Amino acid sequence: MSSVGIDQISFYTSNYFLDLRTLAQVQETDPDKYYQGIGQEKMGMAAHDEDIVTMAANAAYPLVQEGAGEQVSSLLFATETGIDQSKAAGVYVHRLLGLNENCRIVELKQACYSATAAIQMACALVARQPEKKVLVIASDIARYDLNTPGEATQGCGAVAIMITANPRVLSIDPEVGNYAEDVMDFWRPNYRKTALVDGKYSTKIYLRALKKAWEHFREASTYSFADFSHFCYHLPFSRMAQKAHQHLAKVNKSELSVEALEQQIQDTLSYNRIIGNSYTASMYIGLASLLENHQRDLSGKRIGFFSYGSGCVAEFFSGRVVQGYQNCLFTSEHQMMLEQRKEVSYEEYLHLYKAPDPQDGDVHEIAASGSQGRFRLSAIAHHKREYVAI
Ligand code: CAA
Repeated sequence: MSSVGIDQISFYTSNYFLDLRTLAQVQETDPDKYYQGIGQEKMGMAAHDEDIVTMAANAAYPLVQEGAGEQVSSLLFATETGIDQSKAAGVYVHRLLGLNENCRIVELKQACYSATAAIQMACALVARQPEKKVLVIASDIARYDLNTPGEATQGCGAVAIMITANPRVLSIDPEVGNYAEDVMDFWRPNYRKTALVDGKYSTKIYLRALKKAWEHFREASTYSFADFSHFCYHLPFSRMAQKAHQHLAKVNKSELSVEALEQQIQDTLSYNRIIGNSYTASMYIGLASLLENHQRDLSGKRIGFFSYGSGCVAEFFSGRVVQGYQNCLFTSEHQMMLEQRKEVSYEEYLHLYKAPDPQDGDVHEIAASGSQGRFRLSAIAHHKREYVAI
């Protein structure tokens, strides 16, 4: 059977960010607590006319140009920031992107993990019909209460991944390791806009799930720790990946130095440090970060992935970078988008943070809104969300 995996990967984040130095100043905290202690520098803040749909459409737009969208047989949308209890957010994206009408669309939820479920389902669908493409989108806005330890780990972003046969970026191995346990480490009841989290406990459960998923992976796969050149972890904040990688190295009694271990993950962290947590999208933005920022050719290298969703469901899987992957990336577009973002003051951050959820009757002044994405939320009329393409 031909290989299946990632053919293209593109991401989007809002053009607004708060520098965590600003937050530290207001809180009278040492900025190094954020810059060093949790390893985060900036966090993206969605504008009033942005939501998971607009971010998703903006992320996926480059993947469906020149008729490429015609071959998309399924659109799998992963999120934990759902905008409707019934209708899948992907249906709006399908229209905004002009995808063909013979398309299967569904939304998936399990905290930050569900994009990985979507990827595995997409691989299975493509293995059955290799001439088809499956578009996986993960899109989220991470929100915690003000003046809580989680506040500095907010962010927003979407990633779009095209899964195909004979992929040009990453061939995904069929072996996986899974772990699930009913725990209350992070959750968001329907009546809340912000997540509830038992922060320290969540980091412990993350590490436990990593060990368990890895052990299960090892039962299925012949690849050992030493076979991987790099590792992508779920990134609630970048220091979490550093802790996770040291933990995995210890579980495997690795003799690699601290510096060598750091080199295996450091390029995966660059984008997330300045975007913040994007929940379902974060590990895959980490993959884009590695592929686009690593100075050496990664062709043929095997990468390990640890996907974690609080609650909890976790998965370890692996993939091999395809020769010539560099030609299929959107490196300059991504870097330009990140460079052109606008820093907000603390007052502007509060304004964005405290904006009420869009309500029926709202109309957004698109021209004056200031966000940069091609797709925007323009109004809610008769309880129906309206989107426009600029
Ligand atoms: N200079 C350098 N480092 C400093 C410092 C300073 N001035 N001040 C503090 N630090 C260090 C601390 O020593 C600590 O380091 P270690 O973790 O290595 O001990 C680190 O900064 C964090 O400081 P605190 O221990 O005081 O922790 P905190 O109260 O800031 O909370 C947190 C940290 C619990 C992770 C909090 O940010 C949080 O609740 N975040 C949201 C939950 C989360 O992201 N959980 C991750 C696992 S769950 C998951 O992955 C799903 C998901 O997406 C949410």
